[in-house]
Amino acid sequence: MAVDLIAPSILSADFAKLGQEVDSVLAAGADIVHFDVMDNHYVPNLTIGPLVCEALRKHGVTAPIDVHLMVKPVDRIIPDFAAAGATYITFHPEASEHVDRTLQLIRGEGCKAGLVFNPATPLSYLDYVLEKVDMILLMSVNPGFGGQSFIPSALDKLREVREIIDDSGLDIRLEVDGGVKVDNIAEIKAAGADTFVSGSGIFGKGKDTDPNRYDSIIAQMRAALGRVGR
Ligand code: DX5
Ligand code: ZN
Repeated sequence: MAVDLIAPSILSADFAKLGQEVDSVLAAGADIVHFDVMDNHYVPNLTIGPLVCEALRKHGVTAPIDVHLMVKPVDRIIPDFAAAGATYITFHPEASEHVDRTLQLIRGEGCKAGLVFNPATPLSYLDYVLEKVDMILLMSVNPGFGGQSFIPSALDKLREVREIIDDSGLDIRLEVDGGVKVDNIAEIKAAGADTFVSGSGIFGKGKDTDPNRYDSIIAQMRAALGRVGR
């Protein structure tokens, strides 16, 4: 079983001091940086692009950067993110005309490739491409915004994907994104996830009042994960 990774979503960070925010969550024990890219077309919100990814690398961030593309079309922007220092690039299959080609494009650029499933997206997109996938990301909210509530049916879907991965014998991470908090992270792990995105759950309130709160939140998440055997 893969080691658990905690992936703060910088969508909820303070963008006016993004480098510092990323340094702080990594120093607090986070493993990878979740980087949400929205285009005001595939999802009704607009965020950040390759320039910001590159800026984090130039700032000195060496942790893996997990680029979650909520953009349509997908392919044009992939080489830009690879050049900007992305480690993982995940995309929504509905946003690509040629899912197999997009997966190959990501790996061809030297990155790890992932498919993202919205709450209503069927898992059948995995059927013929599993061996080209390094990460499966299950959305536990509808994409577009931080701070939404975890959709409970994601737990059953996680169990289904865990079985698919285990049966395949392939080395594929299972990531969950949306409404992940200290309170529910243990049951999410128990359902099969090994990579946990959390935006508002980590960067949430109290920014200026408690400078050490990231240490405490990530330690609580790690402790909750540690209590779940698999
Ligand atoms: C939503 C994004 C998430 C978001 C999660 O479309 O993909 O990564 O930042 O935020 P929380 O953890 O607040 O639900
Ligand atoms: Zn995301």
